[in-house]
Amino acid sequence: MADKILVANWKMNLLEPQAYFNAFTAALGQSSLSGVKIGFAAPYTLLATARACAPAAYAVYAQNVHERESGAFTGEISWPLLEPLAISGSLLGHSERRQFFHETHDQVAQKLALTLQRGHCGIVCIGETLAQREAGETFSVLTAQLTPLLPILTSTGACILAYEPVWAIGTGLSATPTQAQEVHAWIQSFLETHGIRRNAIPLLYGGSANSANLEALLQQPDIDGALVGGASLQPVEFAKMATIAAAFRK
Ligand code: PGA
Repeated sequence: MADKILVANWKMNLLEPQAYFNAFTAALGQSSLSGVKIGFAAPYTLLATARACAPAAYAVYAQNVHERESGAFTGEISWPLLEPLAISGSLLGHSERRQFFHETHDQVAQKLALTLQRGHCGIVCIGETLAQREAGETFSVLTAQLTPLLPILTSTGACILAYEPVWAIGTGLSATPTQAQEVHAWIQSFLETHGIRRNAIPLLYGGSANSANLEALLQQPDIDGALVGGASLQPVEFAKMATIAAAFRK
């Protein structure tokens, strides 16, 4: 069984990384995290501190990156600007980026292509809104989001997908393990149909994941980990989740 993956998404929150990692490490106590890959997606201005404070085994990710390497894009950040910080990769196409900053499916694909080309890990987020789910459009929305990624996903590189139903993000209304598994299985089949070996790309679930629902989610055969927003802001809660995830390896 592969290691589970747990990625914190701190979003636009002001945290003190040193205090966070002190509390996280203290909460872990003697627990071994050898069976789980842990990552932290931090705001740009906290990336250097997070990388310096986080134990080396943990990955640090940006939350977004521009699809070009440089140019007249006021206020944007590119890979050449991030690379001196020695981070592992970036979230790409989070639903908040798509919804509030109008990122298109093609733009997200370009971000992934550049991310892989420059040797970094891309965690691409996909998922439907409540209106789309209620209209029975979940799989057509996912098809539209995944299709431009296909030629890139087939190339070699560190790539992770995160299924994050928009209606479950920050709402406290997590998808049930059955609902999440249904979509995860569909995504793996969709990828397989397009020549990508089943389970070649790890698939995280995101949307109100916490220490109370994580175990049931991770028990599902096609859920390889979680992308965690709100619950990751509390280091003690996130440490609890890490311990739960690590237990799956044993
Ligand atoms: P949430 O956020 O855990 O607060 O729902 C998840 C995410 O947006 O990645």
